[in-house]
This record gives sequence, C-alpha cells and structure tokens, in this order.
Amino acid sequence: MSDAIHDEKILILDYGSQYTQLIARRVREAHVYSEIHPHTLSAAAIQAFNPKGVILSGGHRSVYDAGAPDLNPAVLALGVPVLGICYGMHLLARHYGGVVQPSNKREYGHATLLHDPQQPTPFPSFFKHVSLQATRPWPNKVWMSHGDHVTQLPHSFRVLAHSDSGIIAAIGSRDDRLVGVQFHPEVNHTENGEQLIDDFVRTLCGCRGLWTATGVIEREIALARQKVGSDHVILGLSGGVDSAVTAAILHRAIGPQLTCIFVDNGLLRLNEGDEVMATFAQHLGVKVIRVAAEERFLSRLQGVSDPEKKRKIIGHTFIDVFEEEAKKITGARWLAQGTIYPDVIESAGAQSATATTIKSHHNVGGLPEKMGLALLEPLRELFKDEVRQVGLALGLPPRMIHRHPFPGPGLGVRILGEVRKEYADLLRRADAIYMEELYSSGHYHKTDQAFAVFLPVKSVGVMGDGRSYDYVIALRAVETKDYMTAAYYPMPHELLGRIARRIINEVKGINRVTYDITSKPPGTIEWE
Ligand code: XMP
Repeated sequence: MSDAIHDEKILILDYGSQYTQLIARRVREAHVYSEIHPHTLSAAAIQAFNPKGVILSGGHRSVYDAGAPDLNPAVLALGVPVLGICYGMHLLARHYGGVVQPSNKREYGHATLLHDPQQPTPFPSFFKHVSLQATRPWPNKVWMSHGDHVTQLPHSFRVLAHSDSGIIAAIGSRDDRLVGVQFHPEVNHTENGEQLIDDFVRTLCGCRGLWTATGVIEREIALARQKVGSDHVILGLSGGVDSAVTAAILHRAIGPQLTCIFVDNGLLRLNEGDEVMATFAQHLGVKVIRVAAEERFLSRLQGVSDPEKKRKIIGHTFIDVFEEEAKKITGARWLAQGTIYPDVIESAGAQSATATTIKSHHNVGGLPEKMGLALLEPLRELFKDEVRQVGLALGLPPRMIHRHPFPGPGLGVRILGEVRKEYADLLRRADAIYMEELYSSGHYHKTDQAFAVFLPVKSVGVMGDGRSYDYVIALRAVETKDYMTAAYYPMPHELLGRIARRIINEVKGINRVTYDITSKPPGTIEWE
C-alpha cells in the first residue's frame, strides 16, 4: 500500500505552549505531515519517527529555572534541521553556550521585526517582507509572549533579526541547520508567519509537500480496505461534520460493507433527519438505518430538569438504542468513529503520551469493548479544517461541511429545564427561521456559532386586539476561535428585529424574543 503522504514528517515536541496545535496546523497547511509529542519522547521513538525536521514549541517556563524541561538530546542526534520557537529557541541557544535572561522591558504582544534584506537567511520568503527599518515599507509585526530572551549568542550562531526594541528575535547556526525565533510564527498576529513555517519545512528540511486531501483520501481508503477485508462496519451518523466525513470516506472504501445508524432522538433541528437521509441514503447511496427513537428519549427525559442528569439520560439512551440496532446487523466486526487529531492529542495529554480515548461526545464511549468490535478511525490524523477539505473533496455538500457545531445532546441542552415535545417543536421552528435569516443575510458564516434557546417561562404580550401569554426565545450568536472563549456577535439591529418579528408571527406559542450579549467567560456558549 502506498503511504507517500507520510514520507515527509515533521516532529513537534511540546514544551507546554498554548500554541502547539497551531504549529502542527501551519505545517500541515504547508502540505507536510506533522505530529505533536511531549518533549519527553524517548530517543528510540524520536529515531523511529524519522522526521525531516523537528520543531521545539514555546513554553511558559524559563530555561534557567530548576526543573525546567531541557532540550531532548535525541533531537540533535538526528542531524535534521531544528526550529526552536520562543522557549524552544532559548533551549537551543543555551545548549550551545549562549545566555538567556529575563528582560527588563517585557516584550509581550506585538513587536516589529528588523532584518537587513541583503543578509542571507534560511527564511527567504518570510524575510522578504521584513525591512531594516521600523518605518515603511514593511514594518513586519510579530507576536511575542515570553519575558526571557537570548542576550548572548552561542559562538556557532548568528543573529538573523532584531525586534525594534533591540531584542534578538531570530538566530541561526552558521550552517543554518538550527534556527530559533523569539516570536510565534504560528499565530495569526504574526504577519506572514505561515511563510516562515513554509520556509522551514520546504527550504530547510527539503520537504516537497506530499500531504494533500487527495493523498489522505487515497491512503485512508486503501488502509480501510486492508484492515476490514470482507468484514462489516457500523457507524453512528450524527449529522455532524466528523461522522459525515467518516461515512463518506468509508463508503468510497468499502461501499455496501458499511451500515450507518442514524438515531433520531427527537432533539434534532427542523428537517435534520430528512436532510441526513437525503444526503447519505439517497444522494450518496450509503446504507443508513434511521431509528425513530423520539418517544423513547422524551419519555426518559420526562420530569427531569437538572442539566447534567439530562445529558446523562440522553447519552445512555443513545447507547442503548445504538447497541440494539447494531446487534441486528449480523457479521459486524468494526465500529467506525469520527475521532479527529485534536481528540487524540487532548486525550493523550490528559492521560499519557500514548493513551487514546473514545470520542466521548459521540456518546459511544465503551461501546466497542462492550460489543466486541474493533475501532476504525479514518480521521484520526486530521485537524478539523483538514476534515472539512477531505469532506468537500469527497463531494459532501458545502453547507453540511461548514455548519456551526451542534452539541451531541442536541436541543436537549437548548431547552432550559424539562424537555417536552411541545417545547422542542417550538424551538425547532424558531431556530429554523433564525438560521434561514442568517444564511440569506450573509451573516451565518460571519459568526462561529448561532442558535436559538427555549425558555420555559411565559410573559404577557399583545397580539392584535387580544392579550397573549406565551413562551420566550433567546437568540445566541458568538465569535470565537477555539470555543474556549467567545464574544457575542454584533448582529445588526435591523436583522435582529426582522428575525424577532418573524418568529413571533410565525411560531404560535412564542411572543417574546431576546438577544444574548454575554461573553464567555463568564457565560458559556450554550445555555443549558
Ligand atoms: P460551552 O457551552 O461549554 O460550549 O461554552 C463550548 C462548545 O462545545 C459545544 N458543546 C458540545 N459539543 N457535545 C458536543 O459535541 C456536547 O455535549 C457539547 N456541549 C457543548 C458547544 O456547542 C460549543 O460549541
């Protein structure tokens, strides 16, 4: 089986930076496969990984602190190019006899980079944007986030660039094999930072860029065929991007040997079940079993208003239903899941370097073992944006691929308090109007997540000549990069007014609409 996409690999050793995943993504965007591992990775594992280059991440410690992580000597023994970012640069400098010290003027945030364009550099496409003066034509802004910096260069190194306040901002060994930057090329705040990463992987490490969506698809198809043979595979389809792309790739690979199970829990958005069936069963010809389980979910949720209890009930009911359906599929030996690379890194970080866990929000935790099934995870190596590219290349509808995240427990967390069918129906219709207006006004893709929330409280209103006493809908829309923090989306008032009018006119039972302007923190994105 051809595995060309892995012929070129960059190893990223994590020294605890909050940006390490971004480094890996930038390398992938340069079409080179990258993996993140803890800085303690064993010499044997480093050698076996056989990378074309190594990147040492940043970290919040100071290299001269007692107990601060050291440079892993196995990295240098490889003889391949090494890029140290921030803490990584400090490690390189110190290792070769340089001095790292705290700065009296702390360079946090934006700094301007200065470099003599006449000077040769290992980063030609990045430095062509940088000038010798802090003034025009190109005051290249970079992002700094550490108080320490290199104050004395090792003998075998030269300075490649300074910051406008005189701090050494980039260094390179005389043979250009070892390079370090004080700033973070991986974050968006650094202008043209992606070109520095591209220069490193292509110019220094000599990679050609074999990591492409088509390459990934071909390999995963071949791998799935080889693993599965003539066995049967089952997959829980949720309507989300990850399980959708998993289904599409496996359908290409093994066609009728794949059966998807789509559980309609009564907590889906308007027409969602029909849309999933239309895309997969009718359009792509995937075998999908649609399980109508609304009653079962809603009856178990009856009278329960505690958010955590609701989540547990929804999760357990899903497992029960899924398991029952899966048992009916004779000869199934594999369970496919849409686990993606950030899930793998996060679970490894939380447990041990090699640990992996089942993607818990897919609500099938523990199922493979319980049912004696082997796991198949074709997206395990991919970041979310790569999953999207693969999905588009496989012909999935762009609207499905670029949808906002939707929580596993669905509308169950967007109906406050007890979940009732009446509430779910009202919410579905209000949410559909909201989405329709966001799409048609062009605002859907400007926000990162938007949805309606049902509040089970009634308030008085006037409708025509009469008085109404109906429920409230809250609208939420946020801007966020990582969903850990979020700001409310500044939705135009005129658009909000139109959405509110439509919901109140078209959804009988709702007479008041509000817009949530809470940021996260202190709020969360979902209400619950
Ligand atoms: P919060 O509300 O914690 O949400 O600010 C952060 C992001 O996570 C999503 N979310 C979930 N996603 N299963 C999921 O797949 C869940 O149980 C779940 N709960 C919250 C939420 O929609 C937001 O994008």
